[in-house]
Amino acid sequence: MLIFKTVREAQSACAQLRGEGRILGLVPTMGALHEGHLSLVRAARAECDVVAVSIFVNPTQFGPNEDFSKYPRTFDEDCALLKREGVHMIFAPMVEEMYPAGATTFVNVEGVSERLDGASRPGHFRGVTTVVSKLFHIAVPHKAYFGQKDAAQVAVLSKMVRDLNFPLQMVVCPIVREADGLAMSSRNRYLSARERQQALTLSRALGKVKDAASAGESSAEKLIETARGVFAEEPEVRIDYVALVNPETLEDISDTRNGALAAVAAFVGNTRLIDNLLL
Ligand code: PAJ
Repeated sequence: MLIFKTVREAQSACAQLRGEGRILGLVPTMGALHEGHLSLVRAARAECDVVAVSIFVNPTQFGPNEDFSKYPRTFDEDCALLKREGVHMIFAPMVEEMYPAGATTFVNVEGVSERLDGASRPGHFRGVTTVVSKLFHIAVPHKAYFGQKDAAQVAVLSKMVRDLNFPLQMVVCPIVREADGLAMSSRNRYLSARERQQALTLSRALGKVKDAASAGESSAEKLIETARGVFAEEPEVRIDYVALVNPETLEDISDTRNGALAAVAAFVGNTRLIDNLLL
């Protein structure tokens, strides 16, 4: 398994593989890998000849009062996991390598970037789209793998790929959950034992939304009420948003009969968690 720290090395290694006619899959991550990340790696391994994984805690997608400095960094464990999965290449640049002094160019997908997490975390998606554009230019993958866990990120990046004609296929993989339903996340490491229990409120609320939708309820207002009712039972968990939106535009909808994304974000202690369900 090759480990590259510089853009130049990663760019030329990927160019060589493409030149040899191999199908290249890219899995962008911020490290602190868990089974959710590994599910993307396995999908990429199944569909591509070679798989590159990037590990980069991207400063431009964190707000000034967010967890950039304390975000878990477990590089050696991550490398061991990826080696076991048969990954060909890791790209793990330092911040100064990705953002040399004086870099002032950003990619922003207007509209959709300001909804859901983009509304709560101003500038977040501009950081995501900027770094993912850079990774796409460095690797030029045939396929890029993302998790449905970050549904708003998927909407923003899919629009970016269309709007900017990136010559690649986006592959979206299902949410991987713990046995009790909690969506896996690198940030789950922040939770105390008590908070870990409280964190189940998110998946439980979505479970109730699913039940109500299966029973025929299609009013977004009613379904949001249902989810909020579950949060009300756990008042220490603070809702950021509970929304029913169009999965592509992230705009609110009033009726779910033509498909919908039920999305929740909430603070458990100081940790902000997200989860969602496609109806
Ligand atoms: P990160 O949070 O490390 O996630 C990397 C990828 O793993 C994302 O596509 C995310 O949706 C996916 N993922 C995380 N948890 C998952 C789960 N439980 N089930 C399925 N997939 C899951 O998302 C980012 O990093 C960054 O924003 C990034 C795209 C790398 C840009 O910096």
